[in-house]
Amino acid sequence: MGNRFPLFPVEASTVAPSVDHLLFYLLGVSIFFTVLIFSAIFYFAIKYRRRSETELPPEIHGSTKLEIAWSIIPFGLAMVMFAWGAKVYFEIERPPDDALDVYVVAKQWMWKLQHKEGQREINELHIPLGRAVKLTMTSLDVIHSFYVPDFRTKQDVLPGRYTTTWFKPTRVGKYHLFCAEYCGTKHSGMIGWVYVMEPQDYQAWLSGGAGGGSLAENGQKLFQELACDNCHHMDGHGRCPSLQGVYGSKVLLTNGQTVVADDAYVRESILQPNAKVVSGYQSIMPTFQGLVTEEGVLQLIEYIKSLKTQPGAAPAAAPARGGVQPPAGGAAAQR
Ligand code: CUA
Repeated sequence: MGNRFPLFPVEASTVAPSVDHLLFYLLGVSIFFTVLIFSAIFYFAIKYRRRSETELPPEIHGSTKLEIAWSIIPFGLAMVMFAWGAKVYFEIERPPDDALDVYVVAKQWMWKLQHKEGQREINELHIPLGRAVKLTMTSLDVIHSFYVPDFRTKQDVLPGRYTTTWFKPTRVGKYHLFCAEYCGTKHSGMIGWVYVMEPQDYQAWLSGGAGGGSLAENGQKLFQELACDNCHHMDGHGRCPSLQGVYGSKVLLTNGQTVVADDAYVRESILQPNAKVVSGYQSIMPTFQGLVTEEGVLQLIEYIKSLKTQPGAAPAAAPARGGVQPPAGGAAAQR
């Protein structure tokens, strides 16, 4: 299907038609009232113009019926905007559970993307047709905004935290990616392409030129390099909590609060370990701020996520490590 209305970008994702229909409704209501109000102004200005110096208009005491009508009708129209807008908003804000995870790190002035399988891209994103794709994004410097007009996707990307968005492409092709938040001198050059491929082409693309291992594997390496496993024993007998099955679970903290161990929680626990201390443990973990990159944090998150899906995989190695007391001071003192 071609682009019948060239003022508009093509509709290349499942939410694109929903966004467009809502926009058409808003435009329709705006145009209707603009025309109505301006016509009324001109009509009344002529019809009720003053015809002589001495003319006195008759006194009018208003019309309850008219007032009710012009209150109820706009109220109804506005409530439709609200309900419809909320519906589309929820659709955009809730990624489906089976979405493909892609991690985005923005910086002045480029987009760095990592696939779960390990592929890395700069200013390019390859995705399969018909699969929902969830982006988890952060920035190394200022606020950027991930914008793909053809998908009707626009989401701010902030330093120091994760934002997410998702889309499901509905047609094969090449779509422009923009940064939609002014971020400095080369903001306008912070652009790229999203390639939507047939699933088999995507599989071929994925298997070609991967090399470096999956995100989770790299995360595991990093976990060992940073000596996280000195304290986080998988059998739960370490000085720090076991991370087996932690991701996505509810965690009880020393202050009595319960939090869900999501991406943001894991990130914070790596960079500001004392912000939320798990009940039964002491706040002995040092910060890894500056020692691990945002990409590294994302790899660690994928590794910790993977610990959930393979119960029983790690405990095999745990007794050996668990039996040995970490050296006095341990990693905490060195970091
Ligand atoms: Cu990044 Cu504008």
